[in-house]
Amino acid sequence: MVRQSSITLASECSVAERAAMTQALEQAGFTGAHLELGTAAGGTLKELMGIYPDAATRPPFHVIDPMTYFPDQLTKVRTNLTNAGIDPDSVRFHIGTSADFLPVARAEGLQFDFVFIDGDHRHRPVLADLALADFVTPGGLIALHDNGPKFPGVGWAIDRFLVRNPGYERVTQAETLTLLRKTPAAGPVRILSTDLAEASVTQVLSRWRQSYRKRLARRA
Ligand SMILES: C[S@@+](CC[C@H](N)C(=O)[O-])C[C@H]1O[C@@H](n2cnc3c(N)ncnc32)[C@H](O)[C@@H]1O
Repeated sequence: MVRQSSITLASECSVAERAAMTQALEQAGFTGAHLELGTAAGGTLKELMGIYPDAATRPPFHVIDPMTYFPDQLTKVRTNLTNAGIDPDSVRFHIGTSADFLPVARAEGLQFDFVFIDGDHRHRPVLADLALADFVTPGGLIALHDNGPKFPGVGWAIDRFLVRNPGYERVTQAETLTLLRKTPAAGPVRILSTDLAEASVTQVLSRWRQSYRKRLARRA
């Protein structure tokens, strides 16, 4: 399957979802680092970076992505940024998965004012990605994309995360984009191994349910 974003280099977020992130970031006036987990062609990345037009004062941007979403993904991301007047060398690309990134973040003591989670949308990976909240500064924001019926894992993981971590609050829902804030009361992230196990089972059941429904719809 050809990914549209590999041809258009456009964002995979809707206009309303990008506007919600832009508005939140403009209001917050963050100066600390920003992180995008899962960048596709960098379409959203270039818009988020564009919120800070002066490269000299722009917060540092990091991207985590295995860069196997489509052929030549990293080259296309870099071209997309260059075409938008952004130096791609100003972005720190962590080529790999979010699981590869966590020990790096720990070892380097990385901290982020803004984290945008838009990688693997299944139940367990999203819940595991929310461990990144430990690297968010108090008052910082976490955005999650594709929280809707097409990707039931995203909403499931957010709900479970908030039950275990009451120091985080929902601030905005724009279409399938959910914004959470880390309050100063947040402690170290709690994600239990039983939560991860339940996420694995739920994602398998959810996939079966979705393919059963598709088969039924095809027969009708
Ligand atoms: C839905 S696309 C991201 C869209 C992009 N954020 C945008 O708004 O245009 C998903 C991306 O997540 C990446 N990805 C998938 N699994 C990942 C993982 N475990 N860790 C990091 N990135 C992952 C894929 O390579 C792909 O680039």
